[in-house]
Amino acid sequence: MTTSKLATTMRTHTCGELAAAGVGKKVKLCGWVANWRDHGEIVFIDLRDRYGITQLVFRMENDKELTGRASKIRSETVLAITGTVAARDKANINPDMPTGEIEIAVESIDMEVPAETPPFEVVDAPKADELVRLEHRYLDLRSKPMQEATIAKHKVLQATRRYFDGEDFLEIETPVLWKSTPEGARDYLVPARKSPGRFFALPQSPQMHKQLFMISGFDRYFQIARCFRDEDLRYDRQPEFTQIDIEMSFVSLENIYSVLEGLMAELTKVAAGKNVSAPFPRMTYNEAMERYGTDKPDTRFGLEIVDATNVAKKTEFKVFQNAGMVAGIRAPGGAALSRKEIDALPKAVADTGAKGVAWLKKTADGISGGVSKFFPEPIREELFSVFGGAEENDLFCFVADSPKVARASSGVLRGLLAKRLGLIDEEVFNYLWVTDFPLFEEDDEGKLSPAHHPFTSFPTEYLEQLERGEDLFSIPSHAADLVLNGVELGSGSIRIHDPAMQSRVFKALGFSEQELEDRFGFFLNAFRYGAPPHGGFALGFDRVLMCLLGRESIRDFIAFPKTTAAKCPLTGAPTSVSDQQLEELRLKIRKDD
Ligand code: AMO
Ligand code: AMP
Repeated sequence: MTTSKLATTMRTHTCGELAAAGVGKKVKLCGWVANWRDHGEIVFIDLRDRYGITQLVFRMENDKELTGRASKIRSETVLAITGTVAARDKANINPDMPTGEIEIAVESIDMEVPAETPPFEVVDAPKADELVRLEHRYLDLRSKPMQEATIAKHKVLQATRRYFDGEDFLEIETPVLWKSTPEGARDYLVPARKSPGRFFALPQSPQMHKQLFMISGFDRYFQIARCFRDEDLRYDRQPEFTQIDIEMSFVSLENIYSVLEGLMAELTKVAAGKNVSAPFPRMTYNEAMERYGTDKPDTRFGLEIVDATNVAKKTEFKVFQNAGMVAGIRAPGGAALSRKEIDALPKAVADTGAKGVAWLKKTADGISGGVSKFFPEPIREELFSVFGGAEENDLFCFVADSPKVARASSGVLRGLLAKRLGLIDEEVFNYLWVTDFPLFEEDDEGKLSPAHHPFTSFPTEYLEQLERGEDLFSIPSHAADLVLNGVELGSGSIRIHDPAMQSRVFKALGFSEQELEDRFGFFLNAFRYGAPPHGGFALGFDRVLMCLLGRESIRDFIAFPKTTAAKCPLTGAPTSVSDQQLEELRLKIRKDD
C-alpha cells in the first residue's frame, strides 16, 4: 500500500486525496459517515474527514454479508475500511468533488463506532437552530463551513506569526490573572482564595503589559492575545475574543500604519486570495462623521450624507423647521423600494435615536410620495441642487434631529439602502485608516471618557487646554482605527510616555490622587525609570477573519462561543458552585435578587 504523509496505522490516505491516478490501489480509510444510500444490490457510503469525502461502495454480488452489514450503517458512525480504488462509471463521475472520479470497493470494515442520531444533520448544520448548534458544537464543527472557518483561522494565525517574526517582533505572553483597572468595559473578576475579599481581573487587553514591555526594552512586541470584556454582545462582539496585539518603541503612527498594511496585505492574500495595495486610504474622524455618519465608514458605495438643513427649513414641514439638522441621502434606484420597505426604515434606524425617516421619490415628471408635497418649485430645484442633481427613480431620505443623531442614523440608513439596492460589491476589500480621533468623548451617561483609552497621547500644545479643563472634546489625539468595509478591525495610538502628562489625563478623567495611586500606581511608577516614546495597535482577530472570509458573525471563528446572553450552551456555564467553594472564597450569594 502506498501511503500519504497523513497516514497512521489505521489509514493509508485521507478522504480527500484519492483521484483517478490511484485506481487499483489497495487503501485503508477512516472517517465519519456523511451520507448513505441503500439500493438493495448496492450500498453507497460517503466517508468524511477533515480533508474531504470519499465514496465507498459495497456490492451484494461481491460480498453479501459485508453489504448487508453496510446497509445498516447510519450517519456519523466512525468507520475504518480496507478496499481498492476503482474508477466510477462515467455517469457517476462527480466533477464537483476532488475525489469524484473514484470510489472505494470495500473489502472489509475494520472498525465501526456507532453514533446516535444527531440533533441535526451535519450537512444542514448552518440551517439548524443556533442554540442547538452551540449545545452540540462538536457536531456543528464537523460541518463544512465550520471546518473551513477553523482551518482558515489556523492558516491566518500561522501567517501572522511568520509575518511578525520576519519583521523582528518578539512574541511575548502576558498573564490572564491581572488587576482590575477602570479601562472601558466592565471587568470579569476572579475571586482570590488566598486573599479573601480580593479579586483578580481578566485583562480587557494587554494594553498596560505591552507598554511595560517597551520600558523593558522589547521594542517590537506582538501577541495573539485573549481579551475579556463583560459588555453587551452582538454579532461582532464576544466576552472573550482574540487580538493581534502589537507595540513598538521609537515610532510614529506612520510606522504603525506601514507594519499593519504589510500584515493585512499578507492576510488578505492568505485568507481571501486577493491582493490589496498599500498604502491604504486615510480619512480623518471628522470627515468620516460628516460624510458617513460613523467612525467606520463602508466606502464600497456612495450614498454620502448631504446636509439638507437649509433647504429643508424652507419647507412647511414642522419636523424639518424645528430640527438642529436635516441630513439627507439620495439613493439611485431607491424608488423601486416598496411602501412596506420604506415604512420599515424608521424602525431600522430607531436605535440611533431617530424619530422618523421622511422620504420622497423622483419620478419622470416631478416628485411623489412621503414629504413631496412640502417641496413645491422652486424649493424642489434647490433640493435637487443640494444633492448634486436628481434622476428618475431616485429615493431621497431625510432624518431631522440634532446633528449627532441625524448623522448617525443617516449612516445606518446608508448601509441599509445600499444592501437593499444591491450597491455593495462583496468582492472588494476597502481598507481605510480613520485618523485624528478626538482624545475624549461623552460616554453613555454623558461623562467625559477616553475616546480610545487613557494612555493615548495628544499634541503637547493642548496640554494647557487640558489643564484648564476647557472644551475638552475638541482636543485631538494621536489615535487611529483600521476599518474594512464598514467594520472596525482595530485601534491604536501613540502613547503618553511622560508620567506627569499621564497623571494629568487621569485627573481630567476624574481620578483622585488616591484612586490613581491604587489603580495605576504601579504603572505610573514604571514610567519614572526611562520610558521610551512608543505606540501600538490591536486588531480584533475574529473580526479580521469574519471580514476576510465574508462571514456574518465572529462566532464562526471561535470554537466554543458564548450566546448574546454571555452563556455557554455546551456546558451551561456560568453555573453555580458548591457552598464549600464559596466558603473557601469567603463569598456569600445574596438571595434577595
Ligand atoms: P480596542 O478596545 O479598540 O483597543 O480593541 C481593539 C480591537 O479589538 C476588537 N474587539 C472585539 N472583538 C470581539 N469582541 C469584543 N468584545 C471586542 N472588543 C474589541 C475590535 C477592536 O477594534 N489596547 C487597545 C489597542 C491599542 O491601543 O493598542 C484596545 O484593546 O476589532
Ligand atoms: P408624522 O408627522 O409623525 O406622521 O411623520 C410624517 C413622516 O415624517 C413620517 O414618514 C415620519 O417617519 C417622518 N418623520 C417623523 N419625525 C421625523 C424626523 N425627526 N426626521 C425625519 N422624518 C421624520
